[in-house]
Amino acid sequence: MITTELKVEKIAQSKIGDVDFDNLTFGSIFTDHMFECDYIDGVWQNPKISPYQPLTIDPSAKVFHYGQAVFEGMKAYRDDNDDIWMFRPDQNQKRINISAERLDMPAFPKDLFFEGLTALLKLDKEWIKKGDDSALYIRPFSMATETCVSASAANQYKFMIICSPVQSYYTGDVRVVFADKYSRSANGGVGYAKAAGNYAASFYPAKLAKEQGYDQVVWTDADKHEFLEEAGTMNVFFRVNDTLLTAPTSDRILDGITRKSLLEIIKADNIDLEVRKVSVTEIVEAAKKGELKEMFGSGTAAVISPISAFSHGDYSYEMPTMEDSFAKHLKKRLTDIQRNKSEDQFGWRYKV
Ligand code: COI
Repeated sequence: MITTELKVEKIAQSKIGDVDFDNLTFGSIFTDHMFECDYIDGVWQNPKISPYQPLTIDPSAKVFHYGQAVFEGMKAYRDDNDDIWMFRPDQNQKRINISAERLDMPAFPKDLFFEGLTALLKLDKEWIKKGDDSALYIRPFSMATETCVSASAANQYKFMIICSPVQSYYTGDVRVVFADKYSRSANGGVGYAKAAGNYAASFYPAKLAKEQGYDQVVWTDADKHEFLEEAGTMNVFFRVNDTLLTAPTSDRILDGITRKSLLEIIKADNIDLEVRKVSVTEIVEAAKKGELKEMFGSGTAAVISPISAFSHGDYSYEMPTMEDSFAKHLKKRLTDIQRNKSEDQFGWRYKV
């Protein structure tokens, strides 16, 4: 029977007592419950919350063969009064459907998204801990479950939300390599979508970067590798003297919610900002002249992560330590809003 009414089956005994919340590896522990909803015969149906558990999926499900899968990353925070907050969840809800459209997957309805999300967070709210380094990372995702290996869009899907208590994504500063051979995305491709395959394609070049002592790749345009675009898990900002530079979004770059929020904060704080193509040459030249003061990445998981070094070809550069760090200032401005520690001048906080 088709129903759109949310069913809830609670866990008999919570696992929370087994978790060491001070020593979490990002995204490796999951809360007691999960949300799921199936798309069958053109209708999203049977939304349910059940104890977190493995799924049974047929080996021929299209997600395993053609990678029709999209996801989101969101966070929930607990403030000092024990209120629970999220940051611009409407933006994630919109973006997962933008990603889904590009992979010819059905949009997930906004009302079901928020009903499932808030019911899940209320059930698992004990997993959201206080503290500046603590958050609940929320992972909505959608995948093709039709059992058929013909290469075409599926006619059945599963949408899910799972949650993971987290601390920082990067445990120190991040060292990056500017891409000069591999590409993450190209014009007309899926770079702007949070498609699972975008991440899979980045792992091999990231492994090569790790072998050279770096953590991440900053992707450049696929054509000539002339312009710096994004880091895969983060959008990137460059501080040359006292001006911040970041690439405009395009069909190759994720429209990061942290990125666009930072742009608003930067403007409100009267920091010089240029949203334009940023060339590898100008950043290397600025580094050589001592004008490259900071680099940092922004993202839900990464928040604002300082980049401490970059390499390009034979050239490598260690960033200076800045007293008046823009990254530090912006991280405080952003996280104070997210965690209900400052006025929300932009109307971004969402009370769960
Ligand atoms: C996020 O910031 O939520 C991301 O998508 C990064 C993730 C791949 C860890």
